[in-house]
Parts: sequence; structure tokens; C-alpha cells
Amino acid sequence: MFTSTLLAPKTELPGDLFGAIADLKRELNAVILAHYYQDADIQDIADYLGDSLGLSQEAAKTNADVIVFAGVHFMAETAKILNPNKLVLLPDLEAGCSLADSCPPDAFAAFKAKHPDHLVISYINCTADIKAMSDIICTSANAVKLVNQIPVDRPIIFAPDRNLGKYVMAQTGREMVLWQGSCMVHETFSEKKMVQLQIQHPDAETIAHPECEPAVLRHARYIGSTTALLNYIQQSSSQSFIVATEPGIIHQMAKVAPHKQFIPAPPLNNCACNECPHMRLNTLEKLYLCMKHQIPEITLPEATQQAALKPIQRMLAMSA
Ligand code: 13P
Ligand code: SF4
Repeated sequence: MFTSTLLAPKTELPGDLFGAIADLKRELNAVILAHYYQDADIQDIADYLGDSLGLSQEAAKTNADVIVFAGVHFMAETAKILNPNKLVLLPDLEAGCSLADSCPPDAFAAFKAKHPDHLVISYINCTADIKAMSDIICTSANAVKLVNQIPVDRPIIFAPDRNLGKYVMAQTGREMVLWQGSCMVHETFSEKKMVQLQIQHPDAETIAHPECEPAVLRHARYIGSTTALLNYIQQSSSQSFIVATEPGIIHQMAKVAPHKQFIPAPPLNNCACNECPHMRLNTLEKLYLCMKHQIPEITLPEATQQAALKPIQRMLAMSA
């Protein structure tokens, strides 16, 4: 049987992949939702491209019968939670997330039990099991706004990203109990190399995603979600930017501001480890094959789906 991680025979791939995907989209009444960290050609073929918040809002309102999710597992899972009766496809089922993996359900249940009076706010980069144990889901775009809506006397657990958690604490002045998870991609940026780069490019503005460590964030002029960063580079009068997030976003930045310069923030080693290895498992070929065979499909136990839906719906209502 075909699985996403096996290489498809070359003969199965049409010469015009873009055209074949467009045909399948019509046949299936499918929508392709993609995150900015996907390869450029996937970004180019997507019906909707966005950050995690935009992608969940889009998944919540789509009329398509099939959702093809070009992103990682927790994102496709969120689309499935919002659309239990639709077929949700992920080009490569192995496309996970180190941050989601850093919060195993059993350990989190024990952690939560130690703080029984705390409200649980979980970053969307977590599994459906963690969402099911949460009161409210947030994304990097709305975390500050959502925490600001919680009464000040209500203690909060924030999971799983400690860096986003620390950033939200600094922005809101709220103490929160943090789960100590992190993203392997955003933790590869080197403060030392970033400062060296800033010295080489004194006119460049540094912008960063809040999943970066505080030592990196303190050198950033602007901090925001991927969509917020994309908006910022268009509004800013600066002509060059040092970009501290996964460099897939630079494809869109160069499209919307072709005259500006975008310099990827350097990782610790001279590697490509600032590219998310999970996101990059998806390829245009796998996207075509998953639509052709309608696998791999995201499935969830009904009880988990229902329990995880409530905190996502709360997020959508609170960020409206
Ligand atoms: P946003 O999509 O909220 O910017 O988060 C980036 C990310 O790491 C997704 O995995
Ligand atoms: Fe997960 Fe980090 Fe990759 Fe985003 S960039 S999917 S948080 S590992």
C-alpha cells in the first residue's frame, strides 16, 4: 500500500504537477491550506497561506469537502477537530513538531494535577490530547491578547512553549506557570552570530518570532507571528531586515516587497537547521500523491475531537 513516506514511482507523477493538482482540487472540491514554512512551490499553489491563527480561522469557515493541509500534524489535526466530517489530508504524516513532542500527555496531566485551580492556556503547537486538557488555545498572533482577557486573580498554566510563555509574561506583566517545552528550530538561532550580523548590516532591522529564546528576542526591533512579521516588513520604512524565524517566510517577504533585502538570522552551526525539518517533509510531489490517493488522512478518537474543540472555539471567539 502507498504511504506518504515511500517514494512514489516516477511514472505516477505527471509532467505538470501544478496543473494536475489544480485538476484534483476541482474534482475533490478541495482547498489547500499552507503555512509560510512550506517550500516555495507549495506556498505558490496554496488557496490560503497563513500563520497558525489564520489557518485555523480558514479551516473553521471553509466550504470545501476536502482539506489538504500543507503544514505539520498539529495544524492538520486542528483542521480535523474543527471539521470532524471532512476529509483532512496531510502530504506526509511524519511531519510532526518538536514543540508538540516536548509535551507528552501523561506528563502534562500530572503537571496539571499539581495546579488544580489554574486555567490552562495552550499554544496551538501541541497535540489534540493536550488541547483536550486545555481551557483555551492560543497562537503566537493572539497569545498576549487572550491572556489579557483573563481576570488578574486567575492563575494560569501556559504550555508548551516556554519562550512564547516568557514573552507573554513580559508583555502582560502576568506570572504564569510554564511548561518547559521549546521549538528546535527557533532555539538554533545564535545571539552571538546575530549581533555580528547586526554589526555587518547596521541599517537592517531585526525581526523575530516569539518562539526564539529571550537572548535573541532582546535584539529584535519587532516581535510577532509569521503573518505579523510579513505585515511589518511592508509597513516599515527600512530597506533590509534580519529575519529570526524559519526562512520559508522569506519567499513571501520577497514577493510582497521585492525591492527590500531579507537576511536569515544565523543558526549556531553552519547548518540549514533553521529550516524546520518537519515542515520540509512535505513536497509538491507528496501533495499531489496525497490528493490522488486521498491518504494519509487525519483521524481522531471522537472523545478527543470533542474535548479539543471547546478550547479552540474559545480561542476563535476571544480573538474575533
Ligand atoms: P505562527 O504560525 O503562529 O507564526 O507560528 C509559527 C510556527 O512555528 C508554526 O509551527
Ligand atoms: Fe514545530 Fe518549530 Fe517546526 Fe513550528 S518551526 S512546526 S514549532 S518544530
